[in-house]
Amino acid sequence: MKHIALITGASSGIGKEFVLQIAAAYSSLDEIWVLARRLSELQKLKAELSKKQIRILPLDLSQDMDLEALEKYLKDEQPCIRLLVNSAGCGKSGPIAEQGWRDACRMLDVNCRALTAVTMICLPYLRKKSRVIQMDSGAAFLPQPGFAIYAASKSYVFSFDQALGAELKGRGITVTSVSPGPVDTEFFHRGGITISPWKKIFLAKPEKIVRKALFDAEAGKNLSIYGCSIQLVRLTAKLLPQKLLLGIMRRMLL
Ligand SMILES: NC(=O)c1ccc[n+]([C@@H]2O[C@H](COP(=O)([O-])OP(=O)(O)OC[C@H]3O[C@@H](n4cnc5c(N)ncnc54)[C@H](OP(=O)(O)O)[C@@H]3O)[C@@H](O)[C@H]2O)c1
Repeated sequence: MKHIALITGASSGIGKEFVLQIAAAYSSLDEIWVLARRLSELQKLKAELSKKQIRILPLDLSQDMDLEALEKYLKDEQPCIRLLVNSAGCGKSGPIAEQGWRDACRMLDVNCRALTAVTMICLPYLRKKSRVIQMDSGAAFLPQPGFAIYAASKSYVFSFDQALGAELKGRGITVTSVSPGPVDTEFFHRGGITISPWKKIFLAKPEKIVRKALFDAEAGKNLSIYGCSIQLVRLTAKLLPQKLLLGIMRRMLL
């Protein structure tokens, strides 16, 4: 039976960094499966990692047909998924009233629906000591006027991960929610989001987020937070009344 890592969102940013670091650190893996829509980026990644067995799956995870294709690949190969990383995601900002519902729902399709489907499709192939790493966000910890749908989608992911982790505990599988603040990737550019000056101060490198996430996942932690700014956000969200926080967020973000 092949032992594999399966990584979504592998064509750029944090997902690509996961592929690079997993390829370097997990020599016992037989293959790394990389998923995203942009075939050319996945091919470049494969060329960069020429000594590793990289399997390219150019899939659009917002499409049921492509999710079914993933289900079939797994059924045919019957691998053991040692590491599952769900990093595919996207974000759009702006007041809800100024956004189109189609774009908003597309975001939910990728951030929530696809992550749920990929995780569930992969579940039968996880074994004792397998690790599930889910790209969440610091935005999960409190509602964000001006970034509402994205933040709500990440709250869903956080809640899903924590419950799944509790369900899988008996099988010796851990689920780690990775909840960073702003990270220096294509994410903002692709979503047409302007990075505010205060966000720029906390902009982290994907290398650091991923290193900590892999370390925390191996340590069996259910949450991986890089940097004290997001720790502070989480603590503040727990301690302060939501009405007060929403007022502050509205002034900062709108
Ligand atoms: N950057 C940040 O500040 C930040 C902060 C907190 C959390 N996050 C989360 O971290 C994750 C990775 O983001 P990133 O910063 O690495 O952004 P990114 O560079 O834009 O990467 C997003 C990845 O998702 C893939 N993707 C998007 N839609 C897809 C679809 N329909 N089907 C398949 N793949 C799809 C993209 O590949 P293709 O376009 O090739 O399909 C790309 O590989 C996301 O879940 C994001 O919400 C990011």
